Amino acid sequence: MKLTPKDIYAKKAKGERIASLSLYDHPTARIADAAGADLLMTGDSLAMVLFGHPNTLSIDLETMLRHTSAVSKAVTRALVVADMPFGSYDDPDAALRNALRFIKEAGADAVKLEGGENIQPQVQKLIAAGIPVMGHVGMLPQGVGDGHYRVFGRTPEEAAAVMRDAKMLDRLGVFAIVLECVPVKLATEITEAVKCPTIGIGAGAGTDGQVLVLHDMLGIQSGVSPRFVRRYAKLEETIGKAVRHYCRDVVKKKFPSSKESFS
Ligand code: KIV
Repeated sequence: MKLTPKDIYAKKAKGERIASLSLYDHPTARIADAAGADLLMTGDSLAMVLFGHPNTLSIDLETMLRHTSAVSKAVTRALVVADMPFGSYDDPDAALRNALRFIKEAGADAVKLEGGENIQPQVQKLIAAGIPVMGHVGMLPQGVGDGHYRVFGRTPEEAAAVMRDAKMLDRLGVFAIVLECVPVKLATEITEAVKCPTIGIGAGAGTDGQVLVLHDMLGIQSGVSPRFVRRYAKLEETIGKAVRHYCRDVVKKKFPSSKESFS
């Protein structure tokens, strides 16, 4: 049975944790869905992970739509959340126009927007139009074009602002909020203060769910190693080994065999 935003919301009251991943293509979405992930985000982190950009700012709407479509076609159970890219929700009308494209053209179940007070009218407009919205507060990758990825909410002023934004989004009716790179104590306090579930990334164990970028947790890019990533596999090694083996076989004329050829 396909999970709905309401199902994800209800998990908090039932004390059920939410396992989420950020991924970008059809085969990995199919595997993660079958393996039991509750929520799959087509994150704009794909700008960095798949396309090698230094940050998420340059990724365009059409690319996000194409990847979201690939993910949503693969999924039978998980909720699919599309990240609205930088510049696609500058005002409420643009937010609605572009969010509708994610739902109608790309098959997303919901959209995610980064920010708090600054995007209040956009969030209100989407929710009024019946589009499920996920919030994202704390460290905002779309706000750090200069590359200053860091923990947010260590000073009392910053902590108060993150708490205020989370409470405001909760009041507006988002079905969940991502807390990114927030100190454990603050993330736990926010989780207790809001009705909707919180999904942490670099926010400790006190949130209602967790999200990791699939490529990070699979160890595909060993050069990138934020403190909050746990490697569940070492695919860079596995893939490198397989490719070296293949190259050797081709050079030594061991591939293809007659069984791998047509008569
Ligand atoms: O872009 C992304 O992948 C994300 C998640 C990690 C929350 O925003």
